[in-house]
Amino acid sequence: MKSSTANTLAWDRVWLGVNLATMTGGPAYNDGQDPTGSLGELRDAALAIKDGRIAWVGSRQQLASVQWSAANVTLAEGLWITPGLVECHTHLVYGGDRSNEFAARLRGATYEEISRAGGGIVATMRATRTASEDQLFEQSLPRALALAAEGVTTLEIKSGYGLDLDNELKMLRVARRIGEVTGLTVIKTFLGAHALPPEFTGRQEDYVRHVCDDMLPAAATAKLADAVDVFCERIAFTEEQTRRIFERARELGLPARLHADQLSDGNGGEIAADCGALSADHLEYASERSLQRMAERGVVAGLLPGAFYYLRETRLPPIERLRELNVPMAVSTDCNPGTSPIASLLTAMNMACVVFRLTAAETLRGVTVHAARALGLAKDRGALEVGARADLAIWRLRHPEQLCAEVGVHRPVEIVLATKSSRT
Ligand code: NIG
Ligand code: FE
Repeated sequence: MKSSTANTLAWDRVWLGVNLATMTGGPAYNDGQDPTGSLGELRDAALAIKDGRIAWVGSRQQLASVQWSAANVTLAEGLWITPGLVECHTHLVYGGDRSNEFAARLRGATYEEISRAGGGIVATMRATRTASEDQLFEQSLPRALALAAEGVTTLEIKSGYGLDLDNELKMLRVARRIGEVTGLTVIKTFLGAHALPPEFTGRQEDYVRHVCDDMLPAAATAKLADAVDVFCERIAFTEEQTRRIFERARELGLPARLHADQLSDGNGGEIAADCGALSADHLEYASERSLQRMAERGVVAGLLPGAFYYLRETRLPPIERLRELNVPMAVSTDCNPGTSPIASLLTAMNMACVVFRLTAAETLRGVTVHAARALGLAKDRGALEVGARADLAIWRLRHPEQLCAEVGVHRPVEIVLATKSSRT
């Protein structure tokens, strides 16, 4: 530590000799030539934080010419710092479980059959409506904590199992409370158009009107929604209904994101692009036109290998075309009780590599810089750069690609949240 003078930079904390995966610069996509370069690696580096923001990033050598002081100095040789991981698509607030459906699917039933027979999303709706707000919080918190223990510092949570005004708002309040209790940044997404609730059977148009006229405005007024999602699918909502809901969201100043082309080609990518959505997620059945429109409009492709895996889907999302078109790819768990009961982003990262054939670098960018973009937060998170939030995951690794290659082995040695710091 240098002596304190008027020109001294005074930091809260500094790490010395650490390796950084900054996720800045370099090619956006791995071209196969340089499998690690696109992580923006900096070895034997230093990183300083102050007032919950990154204050300095550079090589240790550069630091030698800087006058600095810090309340806390960590010699961190052999450690890696990545941005705090960004989990950009979850349904982790829900009541009950659907292990019975898991068993039925193992016996050969399909997700669509189960859903049409009154199971699926509507089964979770019943359990979610029955749970009190406290019970829902207590049932959902462990899933958020499991993600947080793996280095997730920003977490998106959708509603969509209440399917009426009170219960949708209850879910969103629980999501907010999870953020307050854990210190994670929780982005709350209103997904009232997830499935048709039984009381609206045969009256789908009435329900869509209810979503647009009552539920969405109420969620917006209560500041319980940061974005709006729709399940656009033949077992859920049509293209025209999706566009109408997104138009209402736009009027209320809320960005859109979409469950797109998961089970069939519903023109989802194109709808997302037309409506200026932040992301279109799933995309197994997306058409060429949808992909081109997403590329034109900079819509992030949200890849959800957990749902693909659990549904034993055989049609892969068009990864190679997304690469060619330079569409940013985010990776997420889709944590939900039916198609992806996985509260482990590290596991989903491994699946993205093994099942979708993403490279480790693409996957690591998919849970940092591109996931941040999918949430509209790229300005200040997902990368290690001066001014970004000091949300960090610190790991003992030879290289971050181990996070994709090895399952069940790695946990951060420390997680730093801009709001608080905890040693694990
Ligand atoms: O992302 N596709 C729609 N929603 C979820 C599934 C929700 C559920 O089955 O409970 C998904 O896969
Ligand atoms: Fe989902």
